[in-house]
Amino acid sequence: MIEKTITVTVNGEVHTRTVKVHRTLLEFIREDLYLTGTKEGCNEGECGGCTILFDGKPLNSCMMLAMEADGHDILTVEGLEKDGKLHPLQEAFIEVGAVQCGFCTPGMLLSAKACLDEFPDASEDRIRKEIEGNICRCTGYNRIVQAIQVAAEKMRQDTLIVNKP
Ligand code: FES
Ligand code: FES
Repeated sequence: MIEKTITVTVNGEVHTRTVKVHRTLLEFIREDLYLTGTKEGCNEGECGGCTILFDGKPLNSCMMLAMEADGHDILTVEGLEKDGKLHPLQEAFIEVGAVQCGFCTPGMLLSAKACLDEFPDASEDRIRKEIEGNICRCTGYNRIVQAIQVAAEKMRQDTLIVNKP
């Protein structure tokens, strides 16, 4: 077997494609689906630039084969925006100035989303722990952590408004 047909849901859209068995999920996302927001850095599972959410959990897509994603749900940075509106994390990264060269930003946003999905009241220590697999060579991390805290507060307020009797 050198090829396999897979069906994956990416950013809410179902894709059925035939892939070579050695194709990585990162190559599939960038080169077959043209979702180039997911970055290729080290290609060795070290930098976090290729982070996606795989069934809601952060994953280095360079370390998984595309065929292993068959039947699974993927979120890439392109799927964070909803109806033309940026995700609160994206807004906060801009507002706080947490983006410099931007190479780490897509992966960082997805790790941050996974963190806040699991820990809406995440402490600074928890945030730092959850993004430790994402390397940023520019910002020194402080603004990134601050942006995640700003987004967390906004998301908590939004939840209160939605749940108001
Ligand atoms: S490109 Fe995947 S971890 Fe660096
Ligand atoms: S903003 Fe440049 S690597 Fe993080």
